[in-house]
Amino acid sequence: MKPIKIGLLGIGTVGGGVFEVLTRNQEEIRRRAGRGIEIAMVADLNVERAQQIVAGRAQVVSDARAVIANPDIDIVIELIGGYGIAKQLALETIAAGKHLVTANKALLAVHGTEIFAAAHAKGVTVAFEAAVAGGVPIIKALREGLTANRIQWIAGIINGTTNFILSEMRDKGLDFDAALKDAQRLGYAEADPTFDIEGIDAAHKATIMSAIAFGIPVQFDKAHVEGITRLTAQDIKYAEQLGYRIKLLGITKRVAQGIELRVHPALVPARRLIANVEGAMNAVVVHGDAVGTTLYYGKGAGSEPTASAVIADLVDITRLHTADPAHRVPSLAFHPDALSDVRILPMRDVVTSYYLRLRVADETGVLARVAMLMADAGISIDAVLQREADEIGGEGSTQTDLIILTHDTREGTLDDALVKVQALPSVLAPIVRLRKEELA
Ligand code: NDP
Ligand code: HSE
Repeated sequence: MKPIKIGLLGIGTVGGGVFEVLTRNQEEIRRRAGRGIEIAMVADLNVERAQQIVAGRAQVVSDARAVIANPDIDIVIELIGGYGIAKQLALETIAAGKHLVTANKALLAVHGTEIFAAAHAKGVTVAFEAAVAGGVPIIKALREGLTANRIQWIAGIINGTTNFILSEMRDKGLDFDAALKDAQRLGYAEADPTFDIEGIDAAHKATIMSAIAFGIPVQFDKAHVEGITRLTAQDIKYAEQLGYRIKLLGITKRVAQGIELRVHPALVPARRLIANVEGAMNAVVVHGDAVGTTLYYGKGAGSEPTASAVIADLVDITRLHTADPAHRVPSLAFHPDALSDVRILPMRDVVTSYYLRLRVADETGVLARVAMLMADAGISIDAVLQREADEIGGEGSTQTDLIILTHDTREGTLDDALVKVQALPSVLAPIVRLRKEELA
């Protein structure tokens, strides 16, 4: 059989990796796919650089639309990024009746509903393994490997940049800015690192996983998003003393009242495997009712790890290219007409446990007054750690840190109680509140 022809839009970090791996492993891939997979045409704004990478093995153009319009091209890979031209090209690919492979989590999390609907109407596939956790085949696991399960929760370290920064801050005592610069130098960060450090990139990925796990539409606008920019070395150290690591987690969970979808730093018990995922590595824990807890770990970014996921999608599409669209695995795991409208819960209704750090006057009765307000709100305290005043402000200091771990409580209840605690004259600075996830 003749090779299937691919058009590649954008030959940067990931696109370059796709070209390289597909060329290097072409024979192995052909044996798996049942026919050759050949990048016949590449579009990139930087034609000269693209020609150097391609070295005469594919046609290079500057106009992405020329690739989509080529009748020989069956599958288009979008590796440009962003929501602008990438969205138009994705929709034009689908309108031309071609399958789309993309690593663009931002595009799918924000415009997924429109893109998946267009693909369904045209009978083409949108594949996006590389969009979540790079080279880790988590989409395949959720969509196919765990298909027997009623998924209960997913918690993941799904942004390598922030995990790298947190690891460097903890291990080397680097400050936030120095660790971020290293992450950018190593190529982990997005073009705009705000997406990484403010939790937006992780929320894009959590949104996509939530849709696949629970059969709901992609709803990035309902995700709760908090990054790591306000974390202090002090809290990382206290967490450590209490037996926890702080990680930026993407969490989506099915509860009786709806679905939780949230990204924020969280204390995780240091004995959990996921707490020991360091550097730019990614890990996702999935809990299904039949299988129990499973863990997926690997490189979440980088040229060839991400290319590995893009090419896996190419092989899947190639195998089922001639199949009736109704017989292909649905892009979002559930059939488009079987999606559910279970609501995403507001954060006030989320139930979890908390780490609180209060800078207080070192005087008799402070702990009792704080504990009383918490008890009045029905919040149960799990543990308390009080630092020596000298440790906080040096000899003769009149301030100290009070660290409180709570049992599970509704976030709205805690927020209301903290307003009262904050108003106590002995509480001298804004209270630090971090969520704690046992992931048991
Ligand atoms: P790069 O910026 O390295 O590559 C993008 C390429 O697209 C560049 O060569 C750029 O050219 C080219 N380009 C821009 N506009 C156009 C256009 N209109 N037509 C044709 N080419 C164009 O990005 P990455 O490879 O890092 O990322 C690609 C996608 O993969 C993004 O969605 C990203 O979020 C996702 N991703 C990236 C990962 C990674 O590790 N890098 C991991 C997982 C997902 P020029 O440079 O001249 O502007
Ligand atoms: N900026 C992303 C990260 C790249 O750090 O994980 C992979 O999506």
